[in-house]
Amino acid sequence: MTSLQLSARVAALQPSATLAMVARVKELQADGVEVLDLTAGEPDFGPPACAEAAAKEAIDANLGRYTAAAGLADLREAAADLATETTGLEWSSSQLLVTTGAKLGICQALMALVEEGDEVLFPVPCWTSYPEMVQLAGGVPVPVQCGENHLPKVDDLAAAASSRAKVLLINTPCNPTGAVYPRELLEEIGAWALEKRVALISDEIYAAMTYGGAKHVSPIAVLPELREQAVWVGGMSKAFAMTGWRMGFLGGPAPIISKIGALQSQLASSPPAISQHASIAALRGGAEDCLRMREAFEKRCVLVSDALSEMPGVECPRPQGAFYAFPGFGSFLGKTDSETGRPIHSGDDLAELLLEADRIALIGGSAFGKPDAVRISFATSEDVLKKALGRLAARLQKLS
Ligand SMILES: Cc1ncc(COP(=O)(O)O)c(C=O)c1O
Repeated sequence: MTSLQLSARVAALQPSATLAMVARVKELQADGVEVLDLTAGEPDFGPPACAEAAAKEAIDANLGRYTAAAGLADLREAAADLATETTGLEWSSSQLLVTTGAKLGICQALMALVEEGDEVLFPVPCWTSYPEMVQLAGGVPVPVQCGENHLPKVDDLAAAASSRAKVLLINTPCNPTGAVYPRELLEEIGAWALEKRVALISDEIYAAMTYGGAKHVSPIAVLPELREQAVWVGGMSKAFAMTGWRMGFLGGPAPIISKIGALQSQLASSPPAISQHASIAALRGGAEDCLRMREAFEKRCVLVSDALSEMPGVECPRPQGAFYAFPGFGSFLGKTDSETGRPIHSGDDLAELLLEADRIALIGGSAFGKPDAVRISFATSEDVLKKALGRLAARLQKLS
């Protein structure tokens, strides 16, 4: 028994549900169990070769040392170019901060913008970490349920917000739904945020990954005044398959970015040096690798959504971006699996059944704020996807 007392802030914290499931799959695999793993929040590709070569050179040149707290000047410049490409707005390096992953970047932005008790709104289904991050920053999470198309209505945002509404956190393309926000909706949301003086944190980490002709539109670029009260989030994890390198970017008004840089200097000293050198190379020379990966994801997106659309009772708008499908299984709730006798009351129950009986691993929807759904990652081979979808279809037929 320890006599250490956790702070209320940390005692209330939930571990990441997605990472917990990933750990469970790894344990099963270590025991020799073959699992069809559809949990991945990371591309099943390697980083661009030029990034790996630059990292090796940086190690040989003894560059693995502290850097400027806000990141290397060359990387801030390359990140400004990425922000320009993603948003269509002009950015300079004084408006960009290199962070230790986008996740910590978002936490730092929240810490910088949110006073104790301020509301942070976010459309749901959402990335599993948002509510916890908001609470850690002292804010009050305000989830706003989306409709069937996985997009929020402005009236619902307005109804959920009180006078303490401070920040709206938007993620397009969206993890877990694959929804890509259309320009008209973003214009309405932007006009509301401007009128209510609600700041925008725009998580565009999946911006390079859109499919079926869908185009990424940056939420902060749809109205000219908006960028003055907005923070852009990007990074290397998804588009450049560099998850473990822990490289993210924040963009925003220079005085705000400078202050978040001061916060970062106290939290992290500087982002990891070798990863910064690798990221400069990837941003300057890795475009081809990114395109190849996007093409593979596009094919898989079609494969997954076609297969799901042929399963009676499964609701799944076709994902338009990121690398996830988020089917709803509402019509199966209350049914029982005829083989194991297990009742299904939620997407989490279904995920559990699929892991136990069919060795398919995916993430139950409650982690994303929609308990009747599951998240299927298509960051895995077509072969694994086909096998898993076949087993899923067969299992659903056993529910009655
Ligand atoms: C929506 C979203 N935002 C941000 C991140 C964080 O990315 P990272 O911290 O690896 O840069 C993730 C990772 O899963 C994500 O899905």
